[in-house]
Amino acid sequence: MVKSKQKTPKKKISRQKTKPTKRTLNSKCHSNLISEPEVEYRNFVQRTNKTVDESWDFRKANTKEFTHCFHSYPAMMIPQLARRILSTYGSKSKILFDPYCGTGTSLVEANLEGKNAIGTDINPLARLIATAKTTKADIQVLDLFLHDFMNYFFSINFQVDKIKSVLIPEIKNIDFWFTKSVQKKLGVLRGYIENINDVSIKNFFKVAFSETVREVSNQKQREFKLVRRKDFEERIDPDVFGVMIAKLSRNKTGLIEFEKSCKKGSLTSIYNFNTVENIPKEILKENSVDIVVTSPPYGDSRTTVAYGQYSRLANEWLGYPQANQIDNKLMGGKKRKHIHFFKSDVLNDVISTIQKEDKERVRDVISFYEDYEQSINHVATTLKRRLRLLCCWQPHGQRREHSDRRNHYTTL
Ligand SMILES: C[S@@+](CC[C@H](N)C(=O)[O-])C[C@H]1O[C@@H](n2cnc3c(N)ncnc32)[C@H](O)[C@@H]1O
Repeated sequence: MVKSKQKTPKKKISRQKTKPTKRTLNSKCHSNLISEPEVEYRNFVQRTNKTVDESWDFRKANTKEFTHCFHSYPAMMIPQLARRILSTYGSKSKILFDPYCGTGTSLVEANLEGKNAIGTDINPLARLIATAKTTKADIQVLDLFLHDFMNYFFSINFQVDKIKSVLIPEIKNIDFWFTKSVQKKLGVLRGYIENINDVSIKNFFKVAFSETVREVSNQKQREFKLVRRKDFEERIDPDVFGVMIAKLSRNKTGLIEFEKSCKKGSLTSIYNFNTVENIPKEILKENSVDIVVTSPPYGDSRTTVAYGQYSRLANEWLGYPQANQIDNKLMGGKKRKHIHFFKSDVLNDVISTIQKEDKERVRDVISFYEDYEQSINHVATTLKRRLRLLCCWQPHGQRREHSDRRNHYTTL
């Protein structure tokens, strides 16, 4: 468990008040001239006779304010969405729970509003990022470490014999993913971080290191799955230390902004329990949470968003065990053999359509939704009033085979 306590409130955050505007359907447009989301929207209107409130669209918003700038991650929640849900439905709430907290977007938003937050995720990289994003580290101490770090790397640029320690953990197929020179430089960074004795500063450095690992590896950058880039042989060796320094500097700016803007007294605790199995009573009692704000996974990780593959190299460099097993542990990771009927008609319809098209694929979908149903049932027991369950669902740009975008219907 990691706890972070806030010190003093300094500056108020300017909150954007959004006026709801209803979107209207222009039936005269021709479908071959309009985009895929537009077609999808029209189908939605026809099917449900409902319109979409455009004020919930945050396409132009800055999603990288405060510590939200720290580290990219698949299917991140849009901070403005969590912010608006909190101000609209949770203004009186004191404790927020995010049962699939990922990098902690909703936890950061809760803290900014002076609310306590509890998160869980079974991906260690996600927990590390969420922890660093919600820890109000002492900026003066951080500056001392950053100064020392810069001096150290300046000196070893000229005298290799000044290197104090190199730590290269056991990483499967390391030569496939990193050139020898990059491995050595990452090993120097890892060795430096290992010797930091302040936990919150160490986590801050680890987060910058993790993003550096990803950027300087041979892995394709705009891909969640672990795939090697085609031009890896022609690529000039990346500037490992330069990348790390740029991440540290950007994150420090975000942290200062976060600490200045947080309301007083907020506390965040991040755990590693699997919400499908249970929610430990000693951590979260029944009827104890005011609001749940989350963006759940929207399919099993093997075939939809691969959180484990995305994080594998960073998790291995950081020394987390069984980094290549994460996707199997996440929701839908264990494939079921049987057909299961759910309480939701929408879901049963989707499943029967998929079953007609692909008998193998339907097992992935059922496995995911069985886990999801179990998890949501556990989560619901933690709420003070059961009606207060809120799950956010974000449709994504990428189309996935047989992925269902109607999770919100099956959740609420
Ligand atoms: C859509 S992501 C959350 C992203 C997060 N809102 C953010 O902004 O970074 C879903 C998360 O659910 C986690 N997850 C999947 N199955 C889980 C389970 N059974 N228990 C807890 N977390 C789980 C994944 O590791 C992933 O980080």
